[in-house]
Amino acid sequence: MSFHPAEWRKHFPLLANDSRLHYLDNAATGQLCEAALDAVTHHELTHRANVLRGTYRLAELADAAYENARRQTAAYLNAASADEVVFTSGATASINLVAHAFGETLGAGDEVALSLAEHHSNFVPWQMLRERRGVTLRFLPLAADGRLDLNRLDEAITPRCRLVAVTHASNVTGAVTDLAPIVAAARAVGARVLADGAQAAQHGPVDVQALGVDFYAFSGHKAFAPTGVGALWGAARALDALPPFLGGGGMIGRVTAAETSYAAPPRRFEAGTPPIAQAVGLGAALDWLHAQSWLALRAHTAQLARRLLDELAALPGLALLGPRDFQARLPVVAFNLDGIHPHDVCQLLDQHGVAVRGGHHCAQPLMDFFGVPGAVRASFAPYNTEADVDALLAGLKDVMKKLR
Ligand code: ALA
Repeated sequence: MSFHPAEWRKHFPLLANDSRLHYLDNAATGQLCEAALDAVTHHELTHRANVLRGTYRLAELADAAYENARRQTAAYLNAASADEVVFTSGATASINLVAHAFGETLGAGDEVALSLAEHHSNFVPWQMLRERRGVTLRFLPLAADGRLDLNRLDEAITPRCRLVAVTHASNVTGAVTDLAPIVAAARAVGARVLADGAQAAQHGPVDVQALGVDFYAFSGHKAFAPTGVGALWGAARALDALPPFLGGGGMIGRVTAAETSYAAPPRRFEAGTPPIAQAVGLGAALDWLHAQSWLALRAHTAQLARRLLDELAALPGLALLGPRDFQARLPVVAFNLDGIHPHDVCQLLDQHGVAVRGGHHCAQPLMDFFGVPGAVRASFAPYNTEADVDALLAGLKDVMKKLR
C-alpha cells in the first residue's frame, strides 16, 4: 500500500496550519493528532467528571471513557488484560513508580542492571534507589557505536541481579535494543526486565507479550497524544507483587485508623485524580495509530533518515553519533559539526524553519561515552517529507558557511 505523508500530515492540526514548519523534533514530542484532540474536546464538553468515585450518570460516562482508554492502550501494547495498564503522567513517572515500588523489595546485595545509553529517566531513578536502599548498579557494556554489546551481558546481569532496566530504543542514536537475549539472561537469574519504550511506542504498536518483559513504560506526548499522560504496562504477575508507590484516594481497599489495605492493580498505582481527559486522548491516539499501515509508515521514515544519514556522512567535519547501518534503528539521527556548538546549529536552523533539538538530550552518560558534550538530533515521524530533509541539509550548509 502506498503512503502519502502529505495526507497523513493533514491529521495533525498544528502542521496542517503551518506549511513552512519543518518539524524534526519528534523524539522530544510528536505533534498532536486530530483523533486525540477531538476525543479530548468531546470528553471535556460532554463527559467531564471525576472517575471511579461518583454514581451519577455523568460520572459513569467519565468512568466508561477512562476505562475505554485503558482498553485502547492495552490493545496497542497487546497486553493480556486492560488491568495490566496503569495510567501515569508519562514514561518518567512510570519508571519512578517501578523504582519505588519494586525498589522497596530490594536492599544491599541486590543489583540493578542498566546501560550508559539510557535517558536520564531510566538512569537517575536507579541512582536514587542506590542511595535509598544500598543496591548496586551494574552497566551493560556498549559497543563503540552505542548499541548494547549483547555478547557481554553476563558482565552486568549476575546471579545477584533483580532487575534489568533498559531502553527499547535510544533517544540519541535511535538504536533499537534486541530485548530477547536480555530477557533470557534476566530470566536465567530470576530478574525482572523493565523496557523504557518512550521512543519506540511512537513508531507503531508494541507487543509486550512477544517482547517478554515484565514492565514497559511510555509517554503519550511522543505518541501524538496529549502531554501529561503515559502508561506503565506490567505483566499481571509482576504488578500483583508490587507494593503501592503513592498513597491517596482511589488506591485503597479499606482505610482504618490502624492500617490501610490496597486495591488490586491497576488502581493500586493510580492514587489521586488521574489525568482523565489526557488518558481519553491517549486512547484515541493509540486507537488511530493502531489502524495505520505501519509497514509503509516505517519504510517511509526509514527512507528519510537513511537519506539524511548518507548526505550528512558526505559533509566535511560532520561527525555522526551511533550506528551507521539501518538495521534495528528508529529514524533518529544525531551528529555534530566540528567546532560549532549544537545550540548554535539549532538556532540557525530555526531561521530556516527547521525545528531540531541540540544538547545532551537527557543522556549525559551516553554523551560521556561518545566523548562529546552534546549533539544535534533530527528525528522523523510519518508526516515528515523529503522537503524536511532538503530544508535541514540546506540549513546545515548555511550554518557551515556562517559559523566556520
Ligand atoms: N526524551 C525527550 C528527548 O529525547 C524529551 O528529547
